[in-house]
Amino acid sequence: MKIIGFSAGSVGREGNVDRMVRAILEKSGHEVEFVKLADLKYSGCKGCVQLCAKPQVCRLPDDAQPYYQKVKEADAVVIGTPVYFDTITAMAWAFIERFFGYRHVDIPISGKPFVLVVGGALMLDSAVEQLHKVLGMFEVNVLDTVKYLSKVPPCFKCGRHKECEIGGMYHMFGDAAKEVTVTKEMFTRWEDDSEVAAAVAAAAEQLKNI
Ligand SMILES: Cc1cc2nc3c(=O)[nH]c(=O)nc-3n(C[C@H](O)[C@H](O)[C@H](O)COP(=O)(O)O)c2cc1C
Repeated sequence: MKIIGFSAGSVGREGNVDRMVRAILEKSGHEVEFVKLADLKYSGCKGCVQLCAKPQVCRLPDDAQPYYQKVKEADAVVIGTPVYFDTITAMAWAFIERFFGYRHVDIPISGKPFVLVVGGALMLDSAVEQLHKVLGMFEVNVLDTVKYLSKVPPCFKCGRHKECEIGGMYHMFGDAAKEVTVTKEMFTRWEDDSEVAAAVAAAAEQLKNI
């Protein structure tokens, strides 16, 4: 069995979403491949429909292109995304948009087992709903959705929270945000949340049994 996992986690570090996707893959016990979308140069679907219609796989030549054949061949797929602007990231959306290549005459990935991962600082529901909605177009079999609410807004890294009244930190703490000193401990990790750790293990268990 081969499982491929994609994470739209933040560039330049192993964030919570990356580590959740990796953990689910590793705990599944199957042959796995992990792909960090931020490391690839690619775009969303450009509508070159004549290229994908016959092979039923995206043919747009860029870094993402080889992975569409791998998704088709994989026994299961894991997709993880942070929440950006109350929905899935453009990285995840652009990647999934090109699943359009599979939607000609029939859907070769119909019924394929998928596990979804969503991580956000404040709100998860709209992104989870959006991810389910777009993948529903491809009739995949969503075995499980693992969610992690980190309470880590990007402001913890940006360094300007003491002068900001529009960011996630101000939203969370109000005026008190301006007095907060961001410490290492405030960067929560899913591994320290027993419910999320159990959800990760349960998702991996589902994949173990495919
Ligand atoms: C551009 C941007 C927009 C964001 N918008 C939201 C949001 O609307 N809701 C939310 O809960 N978190 C939001 N966040 C916070 C991210 O979801 C959070 O940092 C994410 O969990 C990071 O995941 P990672 O650690 O796996 O990279 C946003 C972050 C960025 C960079």
